[in-house]
Amino acid sequence: MEIQSGSNKPTFMSDIKYKNICKVSDLPNRRGRKFTIADDTDIAVFKIGENIYAVSNTCPHNQSEVLYDGYVDEELYLACPIHGWQFNLVTGKVPPDCKGLSATLETFKVKIENDEVWVEVKEKKKKWWQ
Ligand code: FES
Repeated sequence: MEIQSGSNKPTFMSDIKYKNICKVSDLPNRRGRKFTIADDTDIAVFKIGENIYAVSNTCPHNQSEVLYDGYVDEELYLACPIHGWQFNLVTGKVPPDCKGLSATLETFKVKIENDEVWVEVKEKKKKWWQ
């Protein structure tokens, strides 16, 4: 399917559904921005050099919606601004030396087409009562 640049509706590319969130030039280097890609899905997006990463904006520690305001170090670990838990922007995992922490941050696929940034929109998992 052809991508409609500037569209704000989810678009299918391969078997993955993506949503256009902004232009590459709208993202500051090494600082996060928050976007809503679905009714209950906010993401934190970071441009680090030439690469763009998208993760959940919700910290797995206590569900705070703050990760867009976190700090990213040279090894691509995002530190939550509340208590400092760290998550890798690529894998969502905590650093290997953080034994005892098993939380994983949700990550989202990113595509760039003609300077437009597209982020994966995941199907909602139904709750057990639905
Ligand atoms: S709320 Fe993120 S580390 Fe505690």
